[in-house]
Amino acid sequence: MTYQNLIIEKEDGIALMYINRPKALNALNADVLKEMAQAIDVLDDDNEVRVLIITGAGEKSFVAGADIVWMYEMDQPGCRKFSAYGEYVFRKLERMEKPVIAAVNGFALGGGCELAMACDIRLASEVALFGQPEVGLGIIPGFGGTQRLPRLIGEGRAKELTYTANNIKADEAYRIGLVNHVYPADQLMEEAKKLAKKIIKQAPLAVAYSKHAITVGMQCDLDTAMAIESDMFGNSCATEDKSEGMGAFIEKRKPSWKNK
Ligand code: CAA
Repeated sequence: MTYQNLIIEKEDGIALMYINRPKALNALNADVLKEMAQAIDVLDDDNEVRVLIITGAGEKSFVAGADIVWMYEMDQPGCRKFSAYGEYVFRKLERMEKPVIAAVNGFALGGGCELAMACDIRLASEVALFGQPEVGLGIIPGFGGTQRLPRLIGEGRAKELTYTANNIKADEAYRIGLVNHVYPADQLMEEAKKLAKKIIKQAPLAVAYSKHAITVGMQCDLDTAMAIESDMFGNSCATEDKSEGMGAFIEKRKPSWKNK
């Protein structure tokens, strides 16, 4: 599969997706989103891939938002459709079986911050900048920001960031729990790969079931969420890797996963 706006690389069980639209600091239009949707399907079906890392091509930007030039001419039904499509693609990303790490290498504004929030884990470079600047453009966040930001950092902080259109640096993003770790720019990818490799060492189906239980459970009441956890726990116990993992512990050896 060839892409105009994405670069996909694969190494040692890790897929790297670079959002690559240098002339617009990797801003997202419908073409980029469509390619992302295709790539997500391909990578989720690819048995060689265990973890996906998403980053921005170039030194300066992760994603500088939805494409403002593209949206400028759009009417109300067009904007609604664009928002719904972005939400759909990011939800698809969130629902991938495989864990997704955002390696935020620069601007993560508007749709860029929303993309990072749809990933499972966010790592940031020291030079990364986060924000939902939409109200300064006369619009609101439209790719899930009004929903994921309060879930991640709490309603009060999310409202302050959204209403003021304030951009925050990586250290503040870390302080409020928007990102898991902050690294010097030249170490970001190396650290993202290290984290991916740690995940790859675990039982693949158990990681996928954990992801499902956390991602779906977070959107439910506690009793429903606990039932999802029990189901996923049961599913994990039906795998060959459960016998392998527990057998390896008892026999004091390293497990050799079968992904079954
Ligand atoms: N859409 C379209 N083009 C964009 C863009 C965007 N979101 N962000 C940057 N660009 C383009 C600029 O227009 C510029 O193009 P030209 O060279 O053709 O003029 C090029 O990228 C470089 O940008 P700057 O010259 O502005 O670079 P800078 O370093 O001075 O500033 C920046 C960088 C602070 C990120 C600034 O570009 C900026 O504020 N961008 C807009 C950020 C933003 O508001 N994002 C939210 C978009 S709305 C949204 O995302 C809605 C949603 O939720 C769905």
